Amino acid sequence: MTTFSAEKIRQDFPLIKHHHKTLAFLDSAASSQKPHQVIERMDRYYRYEHANIHRGLYALSEKATQAYEQSRTTVADFLTAPDPKEVIFTRGCTEAINLVAHGLSHSKLSARSEVILSVAEHHANIVPWQMLAKKIGFKLHFLPLTENGVVDIEVLKELLSERTTLVSIAHVSNVLGTIQPVQAISQLCKDAGCYFMLDGAQATPHLEVDVTSLGVDFYVFSSHKMCGPTGVGVLWGKRQHLEEMPPYHGGGDMIEKVTVDGFSITDIPHKFEAGTPHIAGVIGLEAAIIYLKSLDRLGALNHDIELGIYLREALRSFPYIRTYCPNTTASALTCTSFLEASWVGIVSFSHLKIHAHDLACFADTYGVALRAGHHCAMPLHSYLKTSSTLRASPYLYNNCADVDRLIEALHAAEKVFLA
Ligand code: ALA
Repeated sequence: MTTFSAEKIRQDFPLIKHHHKTLAFLDSAASSQKPHQVIERMDRYYRYEHANIHRGLYALSEKATQAYEQSRTTVADFLTAPDPKEVIFTRGCTEAINLVAHGLSHSKLSARSEVILSVAEHHANIVPWQMLAKKIGFKLHFLPLTENGVVDIEVLKELLSERTTLVSIAHVSNVLGTIQPVQAISQLCKDAGCYFMLDGAQATPHLEVDVTSLGVDFYVFSSHKMCGPTGVGVLWGKRQHLEEMPPYHGGGDMIEKVTVDGFSITDIPHKFEAGTPHIAGVIGLEAAIIYLKSLDRLGALNHDIELGIYLREALRSFPYIRTYCPNTTASALTCTSFLEASWVGIVSFSHLKIHAHDLACFADTYGVALRAGHHCAMPLHSYLKTSSTLRASPYLYNNCADVDRLIEALHAAEKVFLA
């Protein structure tokens, strides 16, 4: 029996409350709205607790340092990670992936190496590897998808070899909303002796994540898609891997000693956190985690899935609309555990007669916020043989009225554009 109530949750989100009569915000996969608990925590930090961290020999700085480091422990707990020192704060998921790419480029990647991605990656998990492949000369492979919108494991089996250094894929597709068969991939990577990285940008907003049982080497995510502030993300990595990687940025806080002749590096995690970090952001991320953990998260996931199903069914009555989401029956999509889940409720679709950008702009005049275009996943759009789609990404605070508003906007758009 779920205790999740979107109507109650809506009261926690000032923006949703403020615009409740005029806005259906259906673009949470791009960035979620923020609950007052997160806003107030950051406000409190800036009003009464701010000082630089790890540097000040006075109580205010020590308190700020404690709050920052406490967030690291909360993140480790959120990921069921064994050691908070394995949690590195970054500017976001993109920076976390670039950090790993830089780290592996020093001694783990050579012209003989191969890196396996999938066609469903967003650009943050493609471009850093393409940049390195160009420089080092290694080969990049892109896994195709099955008709269920997940990576084709049979192709992965064929591609894995002693040359494979890394498999890096999105835990959840930002376009299809599908959840990858992570355990099976992890086992294959272990057998092949390569690193396995999951990009959790679209997973942590919806799923409980246990990096140990997922069997990954690296896990990255962004705060702003899961009710936290922008400008903060996380890289979790196994201690040994992080210790083997060189620092990403040079500067204060990542050193042990500096002389005019050189420097020595401090230990993880600070080795990867040069300069004054986004202290308020890290503290806000902790507030977002505390907020999410206070909810019935499985109930929340089923809520997102049910809204996705409600939208998918409604779109079926439009002869010119094609959807890009699972076709599975509703009962097979809702779940009784996170392990069973196969989708997070994201619905992408295209209209055969109206361009996605025109539809999104029209929907905006009806107060519906959607994403339109390639959603930073151009290779996936090429693979799906479409230049652009619209994407509705339901989250905690959405309700059926939001979907109804979208459907009303689509009917109205057809009257105008197909007249
Ligand atoms: N990757 C983000 C999205 O899917 C920006 O919208």
